[in-house]
Amino acid sequence: MDRKTEIRLIEEVLALREQGETQYAQSAVAHDIDRYVSPQWFARENEKIFTDRPIAIAAACEVPNQGDYISVQWTNGISLLIVRGDDHTVRVFANACRHRNARLVDQGERGCKRRFVCPYHAWTYDDKGNLAGAPDFDRGFSDLDKNKLGLIEFNSRVVGGIVYVCLNPNKEVPSDVLEPQMISGFEYLNLDNLRVYKSRSYKINANWKILLEGGIEAYHFNVAHKNTLAPFFLGNLSTWEGFGSRNMRMVLPKKPILEASELSEDKWDLRKMANIIYALPPGLLFLAQPDNLSIIRTIPLSAGETLIEEVLLVEQPADGSDQWSDDELKMHETNHHLVNKILMEDWVLGETIQSNMASGVVGEIHFGRFESALIWFHQEYEKLMELNEDVIARFN
Ligand code: FES
Ligand SMILES: [Fe+2]
Repeated sequence: MDRKTEIRLIEEVLALREQGETQYAQSAVAHDIDRYVSPQWFARENEKIFTDRPIAIAAACEVPNQGDYISVQWTNGISLLIVRGDDHTVRVFANACRHRNARLVDQGERGCKRRFVCPYHAWTYDDKGNLAGAPDFDRGFSDLDKNKLGLIEFNSRVVGGIVYVCLNPNKEVPSDVLEPQMISGFEYLNLDNLRVYKSRSYKINANWKILLEGGIEAYHFNVAHKNTLAPFFLGNLSTWEGFGSRNMRMVLPKKPILEASELSEDKWDLRKMANIIYALPPGLLFLAQPDNLSIIRTIPLSAGETLIEEVLLVEQPADGSDQWSDDELKMHETNHHLVNKILMEDWVLGETIQSNMASGVVGEIHFGRFESALIWFHQEYEKLMELNEDVIARFN
């Protein structure tokens, strides 16, 4: 974000604090729990959101160098292989061998290779997805054209440091897929120059929206995070902006922001005075803390299951070498555990919510006026889902 926006956001927080307010919606909203538990509903999400639209799936800095790759699972069991080729372009392939469909690399694996060798019969692909070789190919497959047996490539594009993919082969990822405010926000966070410290992955038994919702409101801070986040934050105070149809930036101010009015403006530093969230649902949520940026990849597996991958991105070694110092490693390791601890406080609650929703005893949920980001998200989500009464009737 530019300096003007940074100053404006700090001023916004100070004004809200002075009034004892937060950012409000016009009125509270209730939603039926169907959207979290119904398999028919999930199938519609699959059609309208997960498959038919560009999905923010990764940060390009997760694969900074030629041959760097990560494998990422997506809905419908699709396994993606994201690779940076020798032309520096990031491509997204199906992680599936063209011989008999074996996975080329393990789910969740990340590393660097010039060649991807299938573990079954050693068909071998280069970092642009071409079939570069196969044992005894001419003897066994002389009637096939090697040039037509490259990896299946999905339409993808890197915008603002974010890798977008569209699983519908008939749809491109448009060049303006990410709004200017989001792009400038990722520049502010130095996204392109960060590097992966570590990642971890696990499955949570909750709908992806429940998990997202825990990340974009501060109402729960003093309760759910009373021993972790609450002492450092301003309670139920946040400010946010929505961009396009589903992206958002949220500022969760910390206590040091209150000292801003006593500092000269050139010392105002939002990064130190707040946690900043960038949400690109359904796939990515970024949590910026002063010393690191976490990617929280949320992969909807079913109505009640979401695969999570936490990736801690950090600055490159301060001494210009390719190894973090002991002090840097210690700090990154501490943060890697801390992020997980805080997320788990949310995820455990998410699982109880899902479980209660599945029981159907309480049939609706409520978003209060100060949960305004959630209200906006669901309004936009309903548009993406093209919901109307006929569609909803078909879900029941
Ligand atoms: S399935 Fe990949 S080489 Fe046979
Ligand atoms: Fe939380």
